[in-house]
Amino acid sequence: MTEAVDGAHETVVWKVEPHSSVAEADDFDRSSRQLDRPRFKIERRLSFEERSLSDLSITGNLRPVDSYGSMHSFGAVPTPTSPDWSPFELPPMVDEAWDALRKSVVFFRGQPVGTVAAVDHASGEVLNYDQVFVRDFVPSALAFLMTGEHEIVRNFLLKTIHLQSLEKKIDQFKLGEGVMPASFKVNNNPTRKTETLMADFGESAIGRVAPVDSGFWWIILLRAYTKSTGDLSLSETPECQNGMRLILSLCLSEGFDTFPTLLCADGCSMIDRRMGVYGYPIEIQALFFMALRCALAMLKSDAKGKEFMERIMKRLHALGYHMRRYFWLDFQQLNDIYRYKTEEYSHTAVNKFNVIPDSIPDWIFDFMPCRGGYFVGNVSPARVDFRWFALGNCIAILSSLATPEQSDAIMDLIEERWEELVGEMPLKISYPALEGHEWRIVTGCDPKNTRWSYHNGGSWPVLLWLLTAACIKTGRPQIARRAIELAENRLSKDGWPEYYDGKLGRYVGKQARKLQTWSIAAYLVAKMLLEDPSHLGMISLEEDKVKAPPMKRPASWTA
Ligand code: GLC
Repeated sequence: MTEAVDGAHETVVWKVEPHSSVAEADDFDRSSRQLDRPRFKIERRLSFEERSLSDLSITGNLRPVDSYGSMHSFGAVPTPTSPDWSPFELPPMVDEAWDALRKSVVFFRGQPVGTVAAVDHASGEVLNYDQVFVRDFVPSALAFLMTGEHEIVRNFLLKTIHLQSLEKKIDQFKLGEGVMPASFKVNNNPTRKTETLMADFGESAIGRVAPVDSGFWWIILLRAYTKSTGDLSLSETPECQNGMRLILSLCLSEGFDTFPTLLCADGCSMIDRRMGVYGYPIEIQALFFMALRCALAMLKSDAKGKEFMERIMKRLHALGYHMRRYFWLDFQQLNDIYRYKTEEYSHTAVNKFNVIPDSIPDWIFDFMPCRGGYFVGNVSPARVDFRWFALGNCIAILSSLATPEQSDAIMDLIEERWEELVGEMPLKISYPALEGHEWRIVTGCDPKNTRWSYHNGGSWPVLLWLLTAACIKTGRPQIARRAIELAENRLSKDGWPEYYDGKLGRYVGKQARKLQTWSIAAYLVAKMLLEDPSHLGMISLEEDKVKAPPMKRPASWTA
């Protein structure tokens, strides 16, 4: 782990001054009291128009219309008026969840800076579950933002961007400047009364993989904070502007790539172990797309910012086109691929990536409904991973990477394949599970990722917030309500596990932590989103009319 620092390149150790302890204790108290009570209320939310590609000319004047003025403007986001949006009753589970979430808060020098991954005292091995993970904190942050508790989110964003400026090394190899940590923890030295932050950029992680998703989640969260508070002072600080640019330079750099998608190692995101997701995993591509759009809305149009905005716009066009065209699968596309010719040469090729029809797995023919579709797990030369991954598909809806038709089709698929994808506990992280020989080859015999467990077809309650947000965005709250009911049958009773096992997700995961913070926070976020759908604006981006080429039906692989 790398030790830190607050805004400086060398290690800085903070001393907790004895005379300040009363004030700090007070602060402590105040912040924990603030975190104590959820405030459920329907309020007018900020509405700021996203900076649209149509507002910007790549060659011309880059001063966007986004205008910070409009970020300040208040306006009610329309709340659906259908009978589905009935007043919400809060079960005791909600109070229990808030208590648990509050207990997971991590303090640094008296200030709340994040939430620990799990507060599972019963579990023998702590591993790294005592740390604040960037990705795990997102649902916690959203829950706090939704109740007006912004301080913890602001602190988290600032602390993590300071960690970014550390020098990161794995053995003798230096990582890119913009890499964001997967997680961090507060190190206490009771004798010296000092506290330091220790960050992990992958150098302590199992498999030694740097997290690609952390930087994207950071940008997405910065926008959620800005949107929710209307406070531009954070995103406009030189630290945040520079932090964004560093993250972006890592993923916008030109090289040998022939695709606009981002090439990744296995295990660089929520699925942080070998699961055959290397290449161009949907989770990263969807987060990449969303982070680019969020950054576009927040970058200042100064000389440096403008240059990045131009690069972002070009990439968004290409990435959107590529994903909607080549990652999209529905009954028609599947049939087209099934009939593909191979070994085609030149730009007239229909089967551009030389997918061999014999490589299509058997399960997909039965799984694919007539109604519905989804973004496949991965596409690269002669390799299509047909598996379904929940996170990437939900983020595709939220970021409007998916066209409205595609978003509807994804929701149709979830409905049509409810038993497989939701079962008794929302939501399968991936479908189907890898078994037998395939499991041995693809996961390297990973005993944690056995079939229908953990990342390999396990069910993760954290995905509930993403599903709920996607349901609201597509106007199908009843699907979310059904999923939340399922979670309510089990989550509290089972002690808020990290994940469930089995084809239907009926069993508490073999090695699942209890009191897993993001399971708790996701439940709260899902409840609050249903109660007040105007919260959706924090984590959803409207379709950019210019970006999306008009499509009556999802683009064909053969088009
Ligand atoms: C596991 C998960 C990862 C999560 C971490 C902390 O490693 O695979 O996604 O961030 O636990 O909860």
